[in-house]
Amino acid sequence: MLRDGLNLLKDKSVNHKKIPLMDEAYFNLNGNLDEKAVVCSRDQPWIPSPRRGVLRRPMYRLGGEVARATSVVRYEPGSVFDNHKHPGGEEIFVLEGVFQDEQGDYPAGTYLRNPPGSSHSPRSLDGCEIFVKLWQFCPGDSQSKSIRTDQAAWTDMGADGTMMLPLHSYGGVIVQLIRLPAVSQKFSLPFENGMEIFVIRGRIEDCSGQYGAGCWIRHPRSGRLDIHSSDGAIVYVETGRQEKPFIALPR
Ligand SMILES: [Fe+2]
Repeated sequence: MLRDGLNLLKDKSVNHKKIPLMDEAYFNLNGNLDEKAVVCSRDQPWIPSPRRGVLRRPMYRLGGEVARATSVVRYEPGSVFDNHKHPGGEEIFVLEGVFQDEQGDYPAGTYLRNPPGSSHSPRSLDGCEIFVKLWQFCPGDSQSKSIRTDQAAWTDMGADGTMMLPLHSYGGVIVQLIRLPAVSQKFSLPFENGMEIFVIRGRIEDCSGQYGAGCWIRHPRSGRLDIHSSDGAIVYVETGRQEKPFIALPR
């Protein structure tokens, strides 16, 4: 369940000020894909969206009113968003609560891909939090997806119980979930052309530090990252994005 949606207006961490549309930092937040970026979203203030009751914590954003962006978005209970199209594609992972649109209800753990050409009117009766990536589809990637990751068949990756679930693959860009058991062994993640990690549950550690739920880490170029977890964790991992073209933002 959403922890505190009903008390959101009392939440001192929520920034109820007007979105700083003219702020250069808002137009370009971690916009250089050649640089490592780390944002722990839970340390960031909630910023109102144009729609009342829908708030966001941006981690990556490039562009103005229409932007390529990676954010955590919160729908307060009963909130709705206007019908909108996804000309650059929309990728969603439901973190808490139940996200809804005309096609159905998507409980926590659901992975969605809404490709260019799709549209919907999202809402959440009881409130939800979602991880969202906008305008980050490769040209030609037109697959719709709705995967209940809590009901899917995961692949065993080793003796310690590390599991993997493939979510999507197109043109060299690969999206998967990795589930690390508590007190896991080191799990090696080789990557080419960039890797993006979002910690969905639990906490992971690598050579640079510890990252709890809600942390987003982007590694540029190619390499290998060893991660492990003391408490158990589920992480979203995307590789291969850096060298692939995005659908162009409108000028
Ligand atoms: Fe959408």
